[in-house]
Amino acid sequence: MKIMFLGDVMGRAGRRAISENLPRLRSAWKLDFIVVNGENATSGMGLSGAHAKTILEAGADCVTLGDHAFDQRDMLQFIEAEPRVIRPLNFSKTSPGKGARLFTAKNGRKVLVAQVLGQVFMKRPFDDPFSALEPVLKTHPLGGQAAAAVIDVHCEATSEKMAMGHFCDGRASLVVGTHTHVPTADAMVLPGGTGYLTDAGMCGDYNSVIGMDKAEPMRRFITGMPKERFTPAAGEATLSGVYVETDDRTGKASRIVAIRDGGALQAAAP
Ligand SMILES: [Fe+2]
Ligand SMILES: [Fe+2]
Repeated sequence: MKIMFLGDVMGRAGRRAISENLPRLRSAWKLDFIVVNGENATSGMGLSGAHAKTILEAGADCVTLGDHAFDQRDMLQFIEAEPRVIRPLNFSKTSPGKGARLFTAKNGRKVLVAQVLGQVFMKRPFDDPFSALEPVLKTHPLGGQAAAAVIDVHCEATSEKMAMGHFCDGRASLVVGTHTHVPTADAMVLPGGTGYLTDAGMCGDYNSVIGMDKAEPMRRFITGMPKERFTPAAGEATLSGVYVETDDRTGKASRIVAIRDGGALQAAAP
């Protein structure tokens, strides 16, 4: 299978880039399955039902969330009615929606998608992501019912993401980090056959501070004083993420390439 994962969609600039370019990339790269992280698509804070629809209508097969999962209150209801939206497995014991689901790709093959939140440097304590993911991997062995498995690891720390990559090695097709909004250059196939990338980067305007208009974050760093609210940067977004090819029989990754399209970052394609 040919699978693409795109990192955190950041505000209107990110949504526009998704709407305008996802259909083209889907056909140009003959993609079988697309996962998009949507946790910042609505004003940089969470995802509204309307904006989830925008991303799904552009061609995403699955939308993942993150620590901002329920910043937009209507997601509390929306996620119960829209199974293509996944929240972190370990967000909270009482959160609505699901943290893992078996999807059917357009070619009929089954794809497991799961998301976990990290614990290191996160704003509030979440349950252990490793023990949260273990039963999901156990019940969906690669090459069995699931032809491929994609794990979105939503963490601040690179170390925690790398550890999760090795934890899933041989048991997932792709382990990809999100949350930091800056793409890393370490796309690789791990020894057990899992495609891995520490961070997918964001789908947003990179002439910014991690997707926010740079004036206010710079003011806070330089003077230590807040003045205004953060607003997403409005320039042309780069779609940033990763492309992976998997073996239909084993579910393991045969090839992985970081991808970037449009905006300020250097282009990269499969
Ligand atoms: Fe994010
Ligand atoms: Fe996040």
